[in-house]
Amino acid sequence: MTGKADRRRTELIVALDVNTQEEALAVTENIGDAVQWYKIGKQLFTRFGPGIVSELRSRGKKVFLDLKFHDIPNTVAQAVRSAAAIGADMTNVHAAGGPSMLRAAAEAANETGLLCIAVTVLTSLDREELEAVGVHSNPAEQVARLGKLTRKCGLPGVVCSAREIVLLRETCGDSFTLVVPGIRPAGADKGDQKRVMTPGEAAAAGADFIVVGRPIRAADDPAAAAAAILAELGQ
Ligand code: C5P
Repeated sequence: MTGKADRRRTELIVALDVNTQEEALAVTENIGDAVQWYKIGKQLFTRFGPGIVSELRSRGKKVFLDLKFHDIPNTVAQAVRSAAAIGADMTNVHAAGGPSMLRAAAEAANETGLLCIAVTVLTSLDREELEAVGVHSNPAEQVARLGKLTRKCGLPGVVCSAREIVLLRETCGDSFTLVVPGIRPAGADKGDQKRVMTPGEAAAAGADFIVVGRPIRAADDPAAAAAAILAELGQ
């Protein structure tokens, strides 16, 4: 039998964690047509707002607006609608915002056709940090709990670290969308990422999307770095 896992195409998202719009657009121009998806986070969006999203859209790119909304349900639902209105293709919310918030986000996303996923446990939170905010579970248990909650509330997937892919496939199933940062091609500088996987390993483990920033942006030849990753993904 052929499952989704066998047919899964792993899409590359390049993270545009830079300070200026010019730098961001230069990265996309350098890479060219090979990459469709780009991630814009708080660093760029807080300074430049929706303009950077429309610039990318006008170049035929898809945008993952990584703003990790976490607020009362109505506010999050309106933020998700706003993300769709400015042209984002994907956005995210914190699963810790709770079931009502997740359901409100799912409803807004369904209305607009935006892919809205959740963040379970930030990888910066270890057991001690979770205890400090009153969560008496280890990070893996909490990831599984929030993954299941996300699915139950109608959102189609989560952002997760490479080492959580197997756990989330087990708890949330084959069709759950897994977006995976912390990816390093073999031999690349790890930077501040501790536990990394290569693009090929993440794809084999079942990632739907991988998010790669510095290994592409900081390469002497970003286009070649992106092409090598795509080749590893069989594209
Ligand atoms: O440069 P690098 O490839 O490490 O960038 C990874 C991107 O994914 C960054 O935008 C980072 O904020 C994001 N991210 C991550 N680890 C997480 C969640 C998000 O690296 N657990």
